[in-house]
Amino acid sequence: MNNPILNLSDVRKTYLTEKKERINALDRIDLDIFENDFVCILGPSGCGKSTLLRLVAGLDRDYQGKIFYKGKLLTSSSHEIGMVFQEYSLLPWRNVIDNVVLGPEFLGKGKRERIEIGMQYLRLVGLDAYTKSYPYELSGGMQQRVAIARSLANDPQILLMDEPFGALDAHTRILLQKELLTIWNKNRKTILFVTHSVDEAVYLSDRIVVMSASPGKMLADIPVDMPRPRKRSDPAYGALVTKLLEMLESEAKT
Ligand SMILES: Nc1ncnc2c1ncn2[C@@H]1O[C@H](COP(=O)(O)OP(=O)(O)OP(=O)(O)O)[C@@H](O)[C@H]1O
Ligand SMILES: [Mg+2]
Repeated sequence: MNNPILNLSDVRKTYLTEKKERINALDRIDLDIFENDFVCILGPSGCGKSTLLRLVAGLDRDYQGKIFYKGKLLTSSSHEIGMVFQEYSLLPWRNVIDNVVLGPEFLGKGKRERIEIGMQYLRLVGLDAYTKSYPYELSGGMQQRVAIARSLANDPQILLMDEPFGALDAHTRILLQKELLTIWNKNRKTILFVTHSVDEAVYLSDRIVVMSASPGKMLADIPVDMPRPRKRSDPAYGALVTKLLEMLESEAKT
């Protein structure tokens, strides 16, 4: 088997609150992610999903254990690892295209090249007609599309997505799930996608990592062997959703 693009080895994270209380957010996380994988991390609120992504993104280096990216110890954030946040995170004073080209701008690319890159990804998410709009002029779903385009514009190897569709209505959420799979197919990224929606995890991923309630531990690592596009009416789909719900429910009782 290939080497993992990302490896987490005995990762633990403790927060110290303002009142100097210790909160164990993550406990003994061992995880291998392989190139082109679409992995969902599923777990109840507060189990440490965002914490885990922040560590992998290099946004927080105060943890125990080791994280390796392409076999090297991860010591800082990298433009090869992109993040789409849980909250809409566009810069309100920048229009759509200027938000999308933030990464290329940071890397010092010239204006023409930046716009070319930006337009390519805005076309991909279907928002090339909105380049001059400001975030407040867009719906939540459109803003999240822009955020996805912005992450892709960095051409990351790994895309970390923290409940990117959590705040959307059911219809928009399903549309964006389909769109994300199309983008993943076209661009062959490795995606680590956090959600607390069992349905979303089964619809999207190759593998589902289930986490326990706080402190977050790994409960199960389940392959999803169903051809895409998946049908929610497929009995195998329903059976996996039920199995995962039961797992989360029995975890909540312990
Ligand atoms: N900066 C912080 N300081 C102290 N405690 C924190 C901090 N950030 C998170 N925590 C705690 O760590 C635990 C995990 O939080 P985290 O945000 O990672 O959960 P989550 O799984 O992403 O939850 P949700 O599904 O609600 O987004 C929680 O108990 C939370 O209160
Ligand atoms: Mg979170």
